[in-house]
Amino acid sequence: MSGVEVRRHDDADLLVGDVASALLERLEAAQARGEVPQVGLTGGSIAGALHRELARRAADSSLDWSRVVFWWGDERFVPAGDPDRNALQAREALLDHVGVDPANVHEVPASDEVASAEDAAAAYSEALREHGAGFFEVLMLGVGPDGHCASLFPGHPALEARDAIAVAVHDSPKPPPDRVTLTFEAMERCRAVWFIASGEGKAEAVARALADEGSVFETPARGVRGDETVWWLDEAAASAL
Ligand code: 6PG
Repeated sequence: MSGVEVRRHDDADLLVGDVASALLERLEAAQARGEVPQVGLTGGSIAGALHRELARRAADSSLDWSRVVFWWGDERFVPAGDPDRNALQAREALLDHVGVDPANVHEVPASDEVASAEDAAAAYSEALREHGAGFFEVLMLGVGPDGHCASLFPGHPALEARDAIAVAVHDSPKPPPDRVTLTFEAMERCRAVWFIASGEGKAEAVARALADEGSVFETPARGVRGDETVWWLDEAAASAL
């Protein structure tokens, strides 16, 4: 797929280390330009490994964590304290261990805070309109074995959302069933979209996502491109390329 860069690594540890280095470097450079970079985090296991690696490296970085704004590409619509929450996982792995400014951490409202996933999507969209910069410096995305990214799943109505920043997702094939996700439109306003994928189980989805031909409806990860789009892979996830 043209305009997309693929960076391959021997194993998941090397992959996570390289992404962590590159992300810290990019955010430090943005701050050196006087900017307050906005980052979209993602959920999932390799994202968790990245968050822990970032926390390990924080002390040796010149990054001012209080001048980074954090969002999520998607969130599970469960209670705020539910271990399934992407935000809770990110706080435990990273955000609670570095000096973020709480005012710069924008979680999707939880199911014990608003009545419905639709209300959560509306509130999150309003927060992005009010506190977003109109683009992400970096949007991190995992990819599922079915080719989903964020909570944009193959064949789901959210793929067709227009004029919306975030929408509710129900009947997600990946539990839990109710979620909130940024739309394709919201995810395209990025200086960089960085996909990160590890393991043999992602190889077929990665190959479909990066093929010259294919359907976004069948492989939603095909549908997200930034000014720069990088696929950060270990060799197992890249094995079908
Ligand atoms: C979620 C994630 C989801 C995740 C992929 C990859 O809320 O579940 O945002 O999009 O990034 O499913 O997850 P793994 O890295 O755990 O396979």
